[in-house]
Amino acid sequence: MTATYDQYYQTENLFGKPFPELIEFFAGYSGKGKVLDLGCGQGRDSVPLARLGFNVTGIDSSQVGIEQMNRTAEAENLTLTGKVTDIFEFDNFAEYDFILLNSMFHFAKNDREQETNFIKRILSKIKNGCRIVFCVQDTGKKIDILNKTIDFEKPLNRLADKKLEYVFENKENGHKSKTNYRMVIVEK
Ligand SMILES: C[S@@+](CC[C@H](N)C(=O)[O-])C[C@H]1O[C@@H](n2cnc3c(N)ncnc32)[C@H](O)[C@@H]1O
Repeated sequence: MTATYDQYYQTENLFGKPFPELIEFFAGYSGKGKVLDLGCGQGRDSVPLARLGFNVTGIDSSQVGIEQMNRTAEAENLTLTGKVTDIFEFDNFAEYDFILLNSMFHFAKNDREQETNFIKRILSKIKNGCRIVFCVQDTGKKIDILNKTIDFEKPLNRLADKKLEYVFENKENGHKSKTNYRMVIVEK
């Protein structure tokens, strides 16, 4: 597990607002069901999803991020639980209705195998009807790799494939940078 993000998360709400398209997708289910946010960070998505009425479990290796998120959950009495855990050691996927993986995959040479094997393991363990929401940077071959991994055994029902734009604002100097993202949603 890496503790790198503990340092980054000294800045509260580092990654800013959630993708509106992601919130829109979940809002369509009017707050029913259990969500697992793998690598939830400071709760950029977990908090608004709990506010929509979902029962959310967020896991992350950053204790600082989890503590910030749990403080918000407690203050607002949300059905949101944050746990410090390594996502690659988590296995209890079958109880969730939605699994969210936002900005978790790089598919770089040295971590591609671990990441694609992890996706395949999740797909094999989730229950029928579970939806997985991937938000991945749309650069290089990342989306190709994601799509091939998703379709590895048998093609799943594809619910959405949307182009997103992420704007990161450096809170210290106000500098903004844009990155293209894709949101791919599949249902088992
Ligand atoms: C780019 S951030 C994305 C955070 C959040 N999903 C979001 O979109 O705001 C990546 C997150 O993954 C977490 N992370 C990276 N590797 C992890 C691992 N093996 N287990 C748990 N969390 C991990 C980091 O601590 C960090 O919070």
